[in-house]
Amino acid sequence: MRPDDPLVQTSPGDPLRTRQVRSGSDLLAARQAVRAAAVEVGFDLVGQTKVVTAASELVRNAYVFGGGGTMDITPVVMSSGRRGLQLDVSDHGPGIFDVEAALVDGFSTGAGLGHGLGGARRLVDEFHIDTEVGRGTTVTVVRWAP
Ligand SMILES: Nc1ncnc2c1ncn2[C@@H]1O[C@H](COP(=O)(O)OP(=O)(O)OP(=O)(O)O)[C@@H](O)[C@H]1O
Ligand SMILES: [Mg+2]
Repeated sequence: MRPDDPLVQTSPGDPLRTRQVRSGSDLLAARQAVRAAAVEVGFDLVGQTKVVTAASELVRNAYVFGGGGTMDITPVVMSSGRRGLQLDVSDHGPGIFDVEAALVDGFSTGAGLGHGLGGARRLVDEFHIDTEVGRGTTVTVVRWAP
């Protein structure tokens, strides 16, 4: 594994923050928590906005489709010292039937534009969906600071 491999992650020791996503106001609080964590990790304004926007789309999906869920906010650091933010957004909703389709811009089973998931993927460096129909969905993303 290369020393700069993004998979080499250790927490610098900051406590894990978990946000509940059960109401509309939780969505705003979740955005603010990610913004604060991004500032702490050392993201510039553009990086902050990108990771906050990705988080916003993921928690909105967990709320709208998953019936609510949680977001874990975890500061991570590469062995090279580069810092980043990992977000794990989970719900126990119906799951995503076709992940490939869900990532295509314009695909929506709801009233949205269908740009959230694909948009979130473009705003982060690592993106992984773990979903099971009938069980729920966890989307894990990492964005590295410059
Ligand atoms: N957490 C989830 N649980 C179940 N299905 C999901 C979840 N997240 C996304 N999906 C499915 O993937 C589709 C695409 O999601 P995406 O966020 O791209 O679009 P949208 O939420 O429908 O619209 P937009 O985000 O543009 O308002 C959704 O319409 C839904 O069918
Ligand atoms: Mg969406």
